[in-house]
Amino acid sequence: MIRLDARLSCALEMLQGSQAVADIGCDHGKLTAALLQKNICQQVIAGDISPLCLEKTSRLIQKLNLVDRAEVRLGSGLEILAPGECDACALLGMGGELMIELLSACPQVVAGFHRLVLQPMTGVEELRRWLYENRFHLLEDKIATVGDRLYQVLCLCPSDTMDPWPKGFPEGYFGIGYRAFEKRNPLLLGFTKGLLQRRQTALALAKGTPGEAALVREIEPLTAIIKEASTWN
Ligand SMILES: C[S@@+](CC[C@H](N)C(=O)[O-])C[C@H]1O[C@@H](n2cnc3c(N)ncnc32)[C@H](O)[C@@H]1O
Repeated sequence: MIRLDARLSCALEMLQGSQAVADIGCDHGKLTAALLQKNICQQVIAGDISPLCLEKTSRLIQKLNLVDRAEVRLGSGLEILAPGECDACALLGMGGELMIELLSACPQVVAGFHRLVLQPMTGVEELRRWLYENRFHLLEDKIATVGDRLYQVLCLCPSDTMDPWPKGFPEGYFGIGYRAFEKRNPLLLGFTKGLLQRRQTALALAKGTPGEAALVREIEPLTAIIKEASTWN
């Protein structure tokens, strides 16, 4: 049985109950293989823009005898899918900016997903703002720990309305997951403290530069979240 780290396991759990999952940017193919081995879904379409990465997935699913339930497709993002072909999609381990680009390019494919699982490496704040403004309902916003690294894993579905803003969360701030705050995720306090520390270090270096004001603006919501989360038991 394929073994997953906490980041991929977190994504896997969020995809439970899907019929056909698109694993976009599949690379090593571990998520594709685990989804099928653990019967999380019936079928996986694994896509990658790199022939070499796709080859890794192909080899793994052949080795594990999963070829009858998995298909590999070469191409960019969701362009490899027809609308309605998959009811769930994972975009993991790439930049949030690229995720926005890939999701924006194929709205009809996205409309057919009942689950969209995203794990951005960069641009998390921009991604959350884009998802909120484009009416995705944030079901979960988890933090996965691998070694000394923390990863944010988001689970969403398309919606007709914008998410209501949780009580006590700084309105319009997307640097921290509002669902993780609402659900009182125990890892959120430490995560937010780490983020605040990095912003304070950056601010010390940015004094008197054009970047200073943006950093000052960011410190305020982080401080408010830490104050609130410190009261949770
Ligand atoms: C760092 S790997 C992440 C692999 C795996 N999803 C994970 O999280 O462990 C990023 C993968 O995304 C692929 N990729 C980058 N741009 C892409 C695009 N536009 N469409 C599909 N795949 C892409 C890369 O080739 C690479 O295999």
